[in-house]
Amino acid sequence: MEGSIEVLIPREKVESRIKELGEIIAKDYEDKNLVCVGLLKGSVMFMAELTKTMDIDLAMDFMKVSSYGGGMDSTGVVKILKDVDEDLTGKDVLIIEDIIDTGLTIANVKDFLAKKMPNSIKVCSLLDKPSRRKVDVKGEYIGFEIPDEFVVGYGLDLDEKYRNLPFVGKFIQKK
Ligand code: IMP
Ligand code: MG
Repeated sequence: MEGSIEVLIPREKVESRIKELGEIIAKDYEDKNLVCVGLLKGSVMFMAELTKTMDIDLAMDFMKVSSYGGGMDSTGVVKILKDVDEDLTGKDVLIIEDIIDTGLTIANVKDFLAKKMPNSIKVCSLLDKPSRRKVDVKGEYIGFEIPDEFVVGYGLDLDEKYRNLPFVGKFIQKK
């Protein structure tokens, strides 16, 4: 897909917000059994940065779900492609996501993980597009609320491209 990228949230702003979030989460989970469950692949960069700022014991695990066949539109179909490895019984699960858009992914993942009998499940997402919600879910820890724009960078992709950009950019499709 052809287009250009405009900086929406610069690197320094993303990094300082992640540090802030990490400190809040570390305080909230100090005496808990935290397992961060990252959703592959978009959350990888965010999760790495976030957990480095958290001075507490935690475990890291990953799931892979697919809701997008490619391109810029959601199919609404959520499939579990990779389950977590850890036993989550009695654990305090924090789902780490790159962006909450329609909410379908998070709603499905929460239901799926709830069956594993954790003590708690919360959601931390770098970005949130509340105006696009199709199901009523919200994240407890949100980096930035953004308008209805297609964004790339800091883990977010367009057909697997741009994940490595060190800022959040707006993709502007060429007409
Ligand atoms: P949801 O199920 O609609 O909430 O979609 C969540 C997933 O859609 C995210 O994990 C992203 O992979 C993808 N997504 C949603 N909006 C964007 C965007 O603006 N840029 C890149 N990926 C997006
Ligand atoms: Mg994703």
